[in-house]
Amino acid sequence: MAQQAPIGVFDSGYGGLTILSSIRKLLPQYDYIYLGDNARSPYGTRSFDVIKDFTLQAVRFLFEQGCPLVILACNTASAKALREIQQRYLPTCEDPTRRVLGVIRPTVEALEATSQSGHIGILATPGTVSAHSYLLEVQKLLPHLSIYEHACPMWVPLVENGESQSEGADYFVKREIDAVMQHHPEIDALVLACTHYPLLRPKIEHYLPEGVQLIAQGELVASSLQDYLHRHPEMEVRLSTGGGIEYLTTECADRFGNLASIFISEEVKARRIKID
Ligand code: DGL
Repeated sequence: MAQQAPIGVFDSGYGGLTILSSIRKLLPQYDYIYLGDNARSPYGTRSFDVIKDFTLQAVRFLFEQGCPLVILACNTASAKALREIQQRYLPTCEDPTRRVLGVIRPTVEALEATSQSGHIGILATPGTVSAHSYLLEVQKLLPHLSIYEHACPMWVPLVENGESQSEGADYFVKREIDAVMQHHPEIDALVLACTHYPLLRPKIEHYLPEGVQLIAQGELVASSLQDYLHRHPEMEVRLSTGGGIEYLTTECADRFGNLASIFISEEVKARRIKID
């Protein structure tokens, strides 16, 4: 049997930490490597090809560290790069039994139970919205639901710059919530379809009209991963089980550690790496 190794978790920056926390809570036995491409974040306003290239570089890097399974804990990367990686890159790579999973499918699969009105808003980066991945996936799996995708271009920069608790963040949070709810007042569930957005959750909840449910992805992705590992014991046996975590960033390690510790309330010691 091949040597056992950690699960790789990738995001453009800090956002994927919200997914990682939920995964580690549900599946604490495994080892993890978290990689944030903070030096090139945000991805959400970048072009299709650039996001594809950056994501592929990150996946390759995590494969080189031995990870047999990588989670793209980033909607933008999942929307723009996952299909290409699964269909073109994996079959031809050195070890085609490795797997890469995203966050969009597990989120859509959980939507059925969330809305009474059948009208659901998707708050995401401009990149995710322009790919219409949520709309397409919902049309395929749950065609009776109506989906409204809304881009919140300033929310990721606020989080990446450590401004998620600031007064300035109130302006941008209120602006987007008001915009989506004024256009579609029938919405009764809003999905935080960007892994950075849970970090703005207290402010989002503050401006949300009563009766509108907020859906975050962490627990959905974690239970979908648990289910995947039950269905794929051949992958499960390849995962190392020490409960360890290594944090990697493409930006300054100290800065990553300081900001990450705020978001996941534990001490984070990161290591800077280069990917290209
Ligand atoms: N956290 C990422 C997502 O879920 C994207 C953030 C970015 O724009 O880099 O979409």
